[in-house]
Amino acid sequence: MNNHPTIPVILGTARDGRESEKVAKLVAELAQAAGFQTELLDVREYMTSQTIPWWDKTPETENWQKKMAQADGLIIVTPEYNHSFPGELKILLDKAYKEYEGKPAALVGVSAGQFGGARAVEHLKQVLLKFELHPLRNAVYFSDVASQFDAQGVLINEEYRKRIAKMLDDLKKILI
Ligand SMILES: Cc1cc2nc3c(=O)[nH]c(=O)nc-3n(C[C@H](O)[C@H](O)[C@H](O)COP(=O)(O)O)c2cc1C
Repeated sequence: MNNHPTIPVILGTARDGRESEKVAKLVAELAQAAGFQTELLDVREYMTSQTIPWWDKTPETENWQKKMAQADGLIIVTPEYNHSFPGELKILLDKAYKEYEGKPAALVGVSAGQFGGARAVEHLKQVLLKFELHPLRNAVYFSDVASQFDAQGVLINEEYRKRIAKMLDDLKKILI
């Protein structure tokens, strides 16, 4: 593994007005500063109205599979919708399969409520295990997310910067 592993940040919701976008942008910025090669992969850019499974060779699946094949690991930012992760994230993940195998996945939960998307993260972990992705034990949980950023989208609560840094350290220990 090289000293600058490729770790894309997946933004898992396409919702208009999504708060998770601020979180995903912050995580991508900090990942880059920590020495990872990263880019924000926005689910909106890969949306299809229905599942296209990984074995169907279409431009959409091949595009996603190529991205996942290039990645050494993943960071997934997911909001909590009715105690789970968004359907569009599942449709996206189902577009690839073997490209995920054996790679670490760091998770960031986002919610309006006090649990920081913990239930979405736990559901998502089960799905990732099927892909033989390896979810990190410690996730970052943004609770009451609207209060954590100012109107310009700048982080107010610096505690989260430390938590993200710890998560990135955990990824480095595995990859470098
Ligand atoms: C369909 C839907 C369901 C939601 N369910 C929950 C929930 O179960 N628990 C919670 O804390 N917040 C819930 N929320 C609020 C989101 O967590 C909140 O919108 C937060 O900002 C993160 O999502 P966002 O990136 O779409 O903004 C829900 C939001 C939507 C749109």
